[in-house]
Amino acid sequence: MSVSQQTPVINIMEKAARIASKKIIRDFGELEKLQVSSKSLGDFVTNTDIYAEKSIIETLSYHYPDYSFITEESENIINKDNNNTFVIDPIDGTKNFIHGIPQFCISIAKLTLNEITDGIILNPISNEFYWTSKGQGAWMNNQRLRVSNRKILSECLVGTGISQKNTNILNNIKNLKEYPTTLRNMGSAALDLAFVAAGKLDAFWENDLNLWDVAAGVLLVIEAGGTISEPEGNKWLLGSKSIMASNSLIHDIILGALRN
Ligand code: IPD
Ligand code: CA
Ligand code: CA
Repeated sequence: MSVSQQTPVINIMEKAARIASKKIIRDFGELEKLQVSSKSLGDFVTNTDIYAEKSIIETLSYHYPDYSFITEESENIINKDNNNTFVIDPIDGTKNFIHGIPQFCISIAKLTLNEITDGIILNPISNEFYWTSKGQGAWMNNQRLRVSNRKILSECLVGTGISQKNTNILNNIKNLKEYPTTLRNMGSAALDLAFVAAGKLDAFWENDLNLWDVAAGVLLVIEAGGTISEPEGNKWLLGSKSIMASNSLIHDIILGALRN
């Protein structure tokens, strides 16, 4: 497909994200009014996250009343149709949001029989809207995405997440720094994956993540011609806690470097 033709489910996922994004944008402009609580070490939640998630579930349930939900802020919702599940992160990059840094997004994926078949990622501030459906390619605002073709490490930019819960990160970075490449920590795993799909980052890895952080981004990377695995080289599965994404060309080099 050379022209962006969003599938019906993507249209509804976009609608859900756009409705929720109105409050996110408003609250981002009035940060001092936010109430913030800490769920666990390094994990923050705001009233905005909770409101946005509720709003997204409401819109999706209106159109797909039988589908089930896996979400960050609520208990999983098992409905009549357990073969169709939405996976929601209402704000990925909450710490950036709280600090007034416009690098955060809404991420929604759709699983069909335990396979990721659709995904959207919306940065409400930059208005970058990424979408993908299995076999339909990866897109951002009507532009088809392709991973980068850089393979010389000194020219590459590799993303990671230095969150407080990421225990192995210092070892990983020490190993990788023996290779001549540049690292970035931008604070939203979903957008990091979208950036790999868009060819901005050449690779990204992070430990200690959840399905809602990465599900939409995983399909974006694959549909843009990239490779996904665990950082140890194993196949990435829906239950995996760590992820490595790349433009395919430097996948094995980075895997080897991390394992050093
Ligand atoms: C976080 C972001 C961040 C990653 C953290 C995640 P949240 O999600 O994806 O980039 O380093 O591990 O928890 O809490 O902002 O939804
Ligand atoms: Ca997240
Ligand atoms: Ca979140």
